[in-house]
Amino acid sequence: MDRNLALEFVRITEAAALASSRFMGRGDEKAADQAAVDAMRKAFDKLNIDGVVVIGEGERDEAPMLYIGEEVGMKGPNSPAIDIALDPLEGTTICAKGGVGAISVIAVAERGKFLHAPDTYMDKVACGPRAFGKISIDNSPQENIKVVSEALAKSLSDVTVVILDRPRHENLIQQVRATGARIRLIGDGDVSAGIATCWDDSGIDLLLGIGGAPEGVITAAALKCMGGDFQGRLIFRNEFEKERALKMGVTDLEKAYSRDELAQGEVMFCATGVTDGPLLDGIRTLPKNRSKTHSVVMRSKTGTIRHVEALHNFNVKELN
Ligand code: FBP
Repeated sequence: MDRNLALEFVRITEAAALASSRFMGRGDEKAADQAAVDAMRKAFDKLNIDGVVVIGEGERDEAPMLYIGEEVGMKGPNSPAIDIALDPLEGTTICAKGGVGAISVIAVAERGKFLHAPDTYMDKVACGPRAFGKISIDNSPQENIKVVSEALAKSLSDVTVVILDRPRHENLIQQVRATGARIRLIGDGDVSAGIATCWDDSGIDLLLGIGGAPEGVITAAALKCMGGDFQGRLIFRNEFEKERALKMGVTDLEKAYSRDELAQGEVMFCATGVTDGPLLDGIRTLPKNRSKTHSVVMRSKTGTIRHVEALHNFNVKELN
């Protein structure tokens, strides 16, 4: 991957974000997601890559587009062979409610370098660069909070932990509160929340708890670009999910995955905001048929983080 493909991928997340933002606050999650999927799938056709979707919209029989294994891109003679982990609309409910932090995301690695994560859950811990190498998925919440507080030179009560607001986290929330740390409970969107641990002024220091496994791989790729840390362990709800994981190549169902096992080698990441969030502004619709997008583009090779603001004039070009 010697080209900065991420700069080309940003056009794809922009297209998906613009399309789904038309459904913001309309209460229709499916329509918002479908618009993002359609726009992203169409935009891939214009890209000179030989891509395979490894984290996508689901299995082929459940997702007609951007399914796991789908080949995307122009596939020319010089097209780079890459694996793609994507989520056209991360936070479908957020978008449908007009809430905080819906994004469109793509992460890219060389062929075979992403964990082929089944659509199950993952127990996750994520933090920014200062606490890199200090957190562990095998630590208690207390231990992880302690190492982060030391690494950030903050008192325990100044550490803010982000957790998905779910009944399954009742015990975790109690344990975190018992340390004196603060909690930001979020309704959805643990990719944004994980990335926010690397953003100095996001107000979020640590991510704990169980969310989607595919989102875990995408978060690991983003944190690799930013020098943050991530660990995860797959969580299965039933035997069917275990069988599916084994079929997808997972050999040890209990394994604790490091950031670099989830996203090996050089990776790139880009995201465009759909609704306003801690990282990115959402889509702004402007007078005279124009819109503004805010994206972030980064890659692990250089550690460069680029913010891309784009003004789209739909009098001149079509909205996908
Ligand atoms: P969607 O965009 O697919 O709705 O995912 C949103 C999300 O909140 C993720 O950020 C998170 O990893 C996952 O759902 C949590 O799953 P659940 O809602 O089942 O707890």
